[in-house]
Amino acid sequence: MSVRAGQRLTERLRLETGAAHRAVERRLLQEGWLDDRDAYTTLVGRLFALHVQIEAETLRLAAELECFDSEVRTHSGLLAGDLTALGVAGSERGESTPPLQFSDAGGLLGGLYVVEGSTLGGQVISRLLAARLGLSADTGASGFDPYGARTIDHWERFKRSLDAWPGDPAQVVVGAHSMFACWDSWVLRPRSQSAMVGCQ
Ligand code: HEM
Repeated sequence: MSVRAGQRLTERLRLETGAAHRAVERRLLQEGWLDDRDAYTTLVGRLFALHVQIEAETLRLAAELECFDSEVRTHSGLLAGDLTALGVAGSERGESTPPLQFSDAGGLLGGLYVVEGSTLGGQVISRLLAARLGLSADTGASGFDPYGARTIDHWERFKRSLDAWPGDPAQVVVGAHSMFACWDSWVLRPRSQSAMVGCQ
């Protein structure tokens, strides 16, 4: 995809990762991840492991990010609470660490674009989980809607920070692709498959 002069980074990310977004969205809905409690619990367990890894990467690289928003560090806590509410004790959280690493702060920023953007779809997912599984934020569905009524404000603020990023935009796009690839090959791998699968 060609880059237009003056194109905002957020616009470029939306265009260049749109197909990956649609693929993940389609798989989540069509493969039944939100249709029964066992599948959803497996998904939350994997997302918990993914966010622990994202937060470790954030700690490693965030010093270089002026636009870093510390709230991103709260997602694994919400997912841990969801697992408890779904009946998975701490000692039973057996997911291994996803093979996700960013080469630099720009890559991390791209990964965070995917994390923050997913809170928009998270609004839809929360409603589906309430309708299909009777779950609310208190009973196991807080991780997809971490900001509640502040979601849009949060997203707009994050986008402004992204567009002010002074580094190489290409690195940000690479990081966003890595995160979507991790969803595609690691988070949404077959439910029976163990974790020995890479993200690329
Ligand atoms: C059922 C699942 C999902 C639905 C229905 C959904 C829906 C949406 C909607 C309505 C938007 C805002 C409108 C738009 O710009 O297209 C959005 C944005 C976004 N979603 Fe999803 N989404 C889902 C899952 C996900 C997941 C799992 C991820 C990440 C792995 C994700 C990443 C994003 C990103 C990055 C954006 C921002 C796009 C932009 O730059 O404007 N979504 N989604």
